[in-house]
Amino acid sequence: MPKEVLSILDERTHATYEIPIQNGTIRTMDLRQIQSGPGDFGLMTYDPAFMNTASCQSAITFIDGDKGILRYRGYPIEQLAEKCSFLEVAYLVLFGELPTAPQLKEWVGAITHHTMLHETTKKFLEGFRYDAHPMGMLVSTVAALSTVYPDARNIHDPEVRKLQIMRLIGKMPTIAAYTYRHSLGYPYVYPDNDLSYTENFMNMLWKMAEPKYAANAIMARVLDILFILHADHEQNCSANVMRSVGSSHADPFLATAAAAAALSGPLHGGANEEVLKMLDEIGSKDRVPAYIEKVKVGELKLMGFGHRIYKNYDPRARIIKWAADKVFEVTGRNPKLEIALELERIALDDEYFIRRMLYPNVDFYSGIIYQAMGFKPEIFTVLFAIPRTAGWLAQWQEMLADSDQKIARPRQIYIGSAEREFVPLEKR
Ligand code: ACO
Repeated sequence: MPKEVLSILDERTHATYEIPIQNGTIRTMDLRQIQSGPGDFGLMTYDPAFMNTASCQSAITFIDGDKGILRYRGYPIEQLAEKCSFLEVAYLVLFGELPTAPQLKEWVGAITHHTMLHETTKKFLEGFRYDAHPMGMLVSTVAALSTVYPDARNIHDPEVRKLQIMRLIGKMPTIAAYTYRHSLGYPYVYPDNDLSYTENFMNMLWKMAEPKYAANAIMARVLDILFILHADHEQNCSANVMRSVGSSHADPFLATAAAAAALSGPLHGGANEEVLKMLDEIGSKDRVPAYIEKVKVGELKLMGFGHRIYKNYDPRARIIKWAADKVFEVTGRNPKLEIALELERIALDDEYFIRRMLYPNVDFYSGIIYQAMGFKPEIFTVLFAIPRTAGWLAQWQEMLADSDQKIARPRQIYIGSAEREFVPLEKR
């Protein structure tokens, strides 16, 4: 058996080092002993954007980007999407095992009873301008919950943590729906405890004067499946923010608000909104080749394409295409689908995209479905944030329980001026 060791020869000093390899990884702190001489700080690694750095050990989500595999707690995403409800999957992601029937009943009951917002939080939402972006409203309102639940600061108590988790998962759809109603000037609708998680969300979005809202069953199930697909995705940009902010022991409302802020960016969860803008800009199928040419010369990016981890196919995109067909059976085909299919067809056959291993990601088709379901593009990323809250909180809990973790604090390579003499204002 070869030794699981990396031998390093430092040509500066001719010293050799043996660095243990575990799980295909070396600990960068083991490099600190490699010094060019007395007083040298020791060797560091430089890895902007964490291209090749594992920041944690995790048992939540497994991705094999080359094979297009995604599993939560070992279960393939395809099986979970087919057989589970979102709240069942949220439980799995958060607590490590699928719930038993009594556990699921208790969990669903608890989440259902945490859907209501404090009236002052509702008033807070009313303060936003009519045209405020829903993601900005969501981020701020989630942060504001920290003021409503000061007990959340006690992050070391597992029972207190669980209560905040239930509050966040329960209230996220309510906040999301209220941001939507606010932008339309409609009155807010209170949660209805008789309805499922997604049905209740649809109730809070779309109920008007009818005494009881009845959600379309196919739409509610498709939304539930979309929520399952978005529940977690290991160390993505927003999960990393959740862990990083959480590592300072900020409360989970503030850490979740920070994670949601990261999600809002167009290179991350904000891409679903951008895809729709792009399809609008292209306008018709015959204009796709010209658009692709602009992408290839670097003038534009094909939104909803490419992924840091998936270099083969995003397995979520395949399920989303199936979900799109289900929705279109109810709503009729979204005309944007033709443009999207043509974009995918041409791109997957083009040397530029093949060489860079660029495939449609989860955001490429989700927006088209959301639009067909009646959602406006500005709320697409909010729809992503609702289920991802389960993943963020699972990552947060795991980080707090991990004795290897400390406050996240990267190093830098300073490239600024050496010490220099202060220059008074009149001499500059
Ligand atoms: N369109 C055109 N070219 C692209 C695209 C794209 N969408 N994505 C990557 N490339 C090109 C890059 O220009 C680069 O080309 P080069 O080697 O000639 O310089 C090459 O492919 C590698 O791209 P990187 O930017 O190095 O890949 P990275 O892993 O850093 O970025 C990212 C991944 C941010 C997702 C990127 O592919 C992108 O911007 N995609 C569009 C936005 C998007 O859809 N984001 C959603 C991601 S899924 C999610 O977060 C939920």
